[in-house]
Amino acid sequence: MKKIHMVDVVSQYERYSSQINKKVLDVIKSGCYIKGSEVEKFEKSLSTYLNSKHVISCANGTDALSIALMSLNLNAGDEVLVPTFTFVSTVEAVCLLGLKPVFLDINPKTFLLDHKMVETKISHKTKAIIPVHLFGQCCDMQSIISIAKKFQLFIIEDAAQSLGSKCLYNSTLNKKFSGTLGHIGITSFYPSNNLGCFGDGGALFTQNKELADKIYLLANHGQKERYIYDTIGLNSRLDALQAAVLSFKLPLLDSFNKLRQKIAQQYNTRLKSLSWLTVPITINSSDHIYHQYSIILDSQINRLDFQNYLSENGIPTMIYYPKPLHKQRPYMHFVTNQLPIAEMICENIISLPIHPEMENDQVQFICDKIQKYNN
Ligand SMILES: Cc1ncc(COP(=O)(O)O)c(C=O)c1O
Repeated sequence: MKKIHMVDVVSQYERYSSQINKKVLDVIKSGCYIKGSEVEKFEKSLSTYLNSKHVISCANGTDALSIALMSLNLNAGDEVLVPTFTFVSTVEAVCLLGLKPVFLDINPKTFLLDHKMVETKISHKTKAIIPVHLFGQCCDMQSIISIAKKFQLFIIEDAAQSLGSKCLYNSTLNKKFSGTLGHIGITSFYPSNNLGCFGDGGALFTQNKELADKIYLLANHGQKERYIYDTIGLNSRLDALQAAVLSFKLPLLDSFNKLRQKIAQQYNTRLKSLSWLTVPITINSSDHIYHQYSIILDSQINRLDFQNYLSENGIPTMIYYPKPLHKQRPYMHFVTNQLPIAEMICENIISLPIHPEMENDQVQFICDKIQKYNN
């Protein structure tokens, strides 16, 4: 059996190395390294894949969040609703722009923001909501869209972990790709993401031409014409090398996601009967593309002991996330309410290895070891 990794970007590269090497060399030989035709080509293919009118690439997912917020002309002190159980970028961008994060608790079964809590947190200063489609499963966008319409809120979907996952968006059974339902969607091409490049990368999606034009300016120093600046912007561009890698990998994304789903099914089948843990649940309104496969341990199980036991058996694990954002030093002072579910989940959650390069014997080995624990 091969060594088990939490993510295995090297094996994925090795599988496709001859094609990827050629693409990368072609870019190097072209002399065009920033923006240019390779980046445009990738933006077009992603826009076709997502059926999103506008796709604007940028340097990373964190910048994409900042650019999205900057494009909405919000004022300092305006409030933005964010889940407390997410990667830090979501909240970081809000705070860096002088906006105020208002933390939402999560659903204990899906780990996604509790949409029932949203209305109770809206004030006259609330201007936007950032649903995070965490671990590869989408938030209840039907509810979020209807609340946003009622209170005239902007929706910025954080699809950093959910690229390729679809969700229901109205009462019909039609689904759309995550990131394409709100006013703006963002994603990240961080190497371990479902669609990852060999460095940093990100993108924004919108169906609105005016917003797309603004985002395009903001990501490129605020310039429309070279050296003529319309607004204060950022230097946030996708490298041509990363775009070439992403153009190669995008047609493989669905198959990567299917492999993740297959592994999750194998885990579910073997682990769901264990009384001392809960496997992740899936909801009807969304696909799950298992950016992470995260289980919840019963409170009598010592997580560190369990983690050490797996590690001694060559099985890496991760804690996504050990502390909710409202309990972290830079963000504590924004908190006005109790967020007990996220706190409880942070204590008991643990993520198992999942990636498209995993082999059947590795998954079965992990399940064997977990089944033998606490017997
Ligand atoms: C939910 C979420 N939002 C935003 C980001 C930020 O992306 P990046 O690391 O590309 O800045 C990440 C990182 O993967 C993330 O997981």
